[in-house]
Amino acid sequence: MLSDESTNKLIEMKVDVLLGLQWGDEGKGKVVDVLTPRYDVVTRFQGGPNAGHTLEFDGEKYVLRSIPSGIFQGGKVNVIGNGVVLDPLLFKQEAEALAKSGHDLTKRLKISKKAHLILPTHRVLDAANEAMKGAGKIGTTGKGIGPTYTDKISRNGVRVGDILNGFDEKYAVAKARHEAILKAYNFPYDIQELEKEWMEGVEYLKQFEIIDSEHAVNNYIKEGKSVLAEGAQGTMLDIDFGSYPFVTSSNTICAGACTGLGIAPNRIGEVYGIFKAYCTRVGMGPFPTELFDETGDKMCEIGHEFGSVTGRRRRCGWIDLVALKYAIMINGVTQLIMMKSDVMDGFETIKACVAYDIDGVNTKEFPYEIGENVKPVYVELEGWKTDMTKMRSEDEFPAQFKAYVDFLEKELETPIKIVSVGPDREQTIER
Ligand code: GDP
Ligand code: IMO
Ligand code: MG
Repeated sequence: MLSDESTNKLIEMKVDVLLGLQWGDEGKGKVVDVLTPRYDVVTRFQGGPNAGHTLEFDGEKYVLRSIPSGIFQGGKVNVIGNGVVLDPLLFKQEAEALAKSGHDLTKRLKISKKAHLILPTHRVLDAANEAMKGAGKIGTTGKGIGPTYTDKISRNGVRVGDILNGFDEKYAVAKARHEAILKAYNFPYDIQELEKEWMEGVEYLKQFEIIDSEHAVNNYIKEGKSVLAEGAQGTMLDIDFGSYPFVTSSNTICAGACTGLGIAPNRIGEVYGIFKAYCTRVGMGPFPTELFDETGDKMCEIGHEFGSVTGRRRRCGWIDLVALKYAIMINGVTQLIMMKSDVMDGFETIKACVAYDIDGVNTKEFPYEIGENVKPVYVELEGWKTDMTKMRSEDEFPAQFKAYVDFLEKELETPIKIVSVGPDREQTIER
């Protein structure tokens, strides 16, 4: 706790949370990198290598999967929290690539003992589950996320802390369980080579500080250090509130930062909610404002909407204010960040979904089920038809863009404090 010299009052430090409000890929990595200079500590609290967070600066592009996006701003501590699921092999590949480009993480990255390990057989189980679902498959990233969280909840998981004590036995027990399931599924697989490399990843992990991160994070707060929690995926992929079952297997929402770091709810400060000026989704599942025409193709092409992890084409559509309002409510968002507004620079008109028509009845409440009968109700706004990518101040905003921002703020009842006009760190406007 710090003391404010002017009032002699104690200042309670809070953890600020940044999270996606749509179906992921909103641009979280870029903004965490931009905000990091204001923080001492950056943490990840859920998800795993299903995430792909892209950062661009000094003409270079980096994609992070398990490592927090605060890693590029010198001298900051980065923590992988207990809520994360970690694949040692993918982690090794990610960390080695960063080391090669001059970013040594060993002194700056700490990993929670309580984070769960993604085993090679978890990846196979992910593929087997998808195959069993057939046409109803989720379209997962194939990284073993669901099976690893399943083992966590069913109390069968292996944790990062286990690599320091009794690992071989714990690994063998978990693997035998998985093999029995795969045998019952009659699912063919060969993990020999993968397992060998994965074990090298386990050895590699040991050079990092493996800690009781809940104590560390709470101590940082006590010492007056500022902490930023970086979400992965997005609210509409949350296991409880997303478009179930087409979701990921963790709580991507603000409350996930409490369970995924071990901080009390009253420690949460600002909640940054991040969204695209339009909307995308990768994988299967409902998407009411999805476009199947040339306008959707145009968004995809201009926005380079291809997955940073799987390379899959992202589905594109208009902004959905019904879903966004729901996400703002669930997360207690205090300020909004609008990304990729430059992608809309050439559009004559822009549509925003303000309600759903469900069997002829209009609603603004996000419903339990999103079937074919849910039709978006749009308002149409005039496009700004101006290249905004070189703009660096709010004063330069075209009138139509200002009107779009005003409209969104009014509808969403939350201020938009940052507007992003391109992928680079510099292409960021604060207001
Ligand atoms: P994340 O998973 O939320 O971190 O987002 P991704 O990195 O998966 O996807 C966002 C993509 O948009 C990346 O390729 C970014 O480089 C890019 N990007 C971020 N902000 C902007 C922006 O304002 N404009 C444009 N055109 N691209 C952006
Ligand atoms: P970032 O952090 C977009 C999607 C997958 C699939 C569903 C479940 O980069 O925003 P999983 O592998 O988690 O079991 O897949 O969730 N998905 C994402 N979509 N961005 C992500 O992460 C995602 N992580 C998972 O496409 O539909
Ligand atoms: Mg991404």
